Amino acid sequence: MMDEGSSRMNIAIDGPAGAGKSTVARQVAEQLGFVYIDTGAMYRAVTLAAQRAGIKADEPGRLGELTHSLRIELEPGELGQTVKLNGEDVTSLIRSREVTLHVSSYAADESVRTVLAAMQRQLAARKGIVMDGRDIGSHVLPNAELKVFLTASVKERALRRYREIQGSQDISLDQLEKEIAERDRSDEQREISPLICASDAVVLDSTGMTINEVVHAIVNLSRTKLAEAK
Ligand code: CDP
Repeated sequence: MMDEGSSRMNIAIDGPAGAGKSTVARQVAEQLGFVYIDTGAMYRAVTLAAQRAGIKADEPGRLGELTHSLRIELEPGELGQTVKLNGEDVTSLIRSREVTLHVSSYAADESVRTVLAAMQRQLAARKGIVMDGRDIGSHVLPNAELKVFLTASVKERALRRYREIQGSQDISLDQLEKEIAERDRSDEQREISPLICASDAVVLDSTGMTINEVVHAIVNLSRTKLAEAK
């Protein structure tokens, strides 16, 4: 692991569902000696907490109060990031179909976004962060030194997700493709900080690329940025 001036840069990786952001972001962070932050996991943790408390996505008051009261912690774990909700390990629970199907509705709530964006900015304040999500380059860290918009065709994204969950959830490839397209639509069309490609982001279409190739491309981009900053 090399620490190549982590004090000087943050990397924002945004893109639609299943583009490979979390795998890629984790590996980029590892190679650069940076800290990886999965903001999608934070929206998922809020969704799980709200579902448990019986709070619907269209109850902004209760949702805001709940989000304020939560302690969400992201820790490096054996299999990527361990997510804790008020001290409880919810790493697997937040990947359930029940959470995945509803997370975009909860993520459209203004108070949820305000609280989580503030937490994310705080986490990134010391720099040396790779953060992935939907609005990182456009809203949370508009001054990130490197912004990447990672995408792939919806077919390829569905296929990747299908391989990832095969066996653990009873869902067909067609159904998965529909659900991914629906989540993209809802993330792109919400009013508050929707999924968009920041004007200064580098667009990487990973259709047909391996994870290694994408990681390599982003690490190279970051090295170029670091050299420019010298
Ligand atoms: O991993 P996957 O692509 O399935 O999604 P995720 O990164 O875990 O994010 C789950 C959901 O959280 C997204 O579909 C968005 O609705 C929301 N999200 C968001 O609104 N803003 C972010 N910065 C990250 C996630």
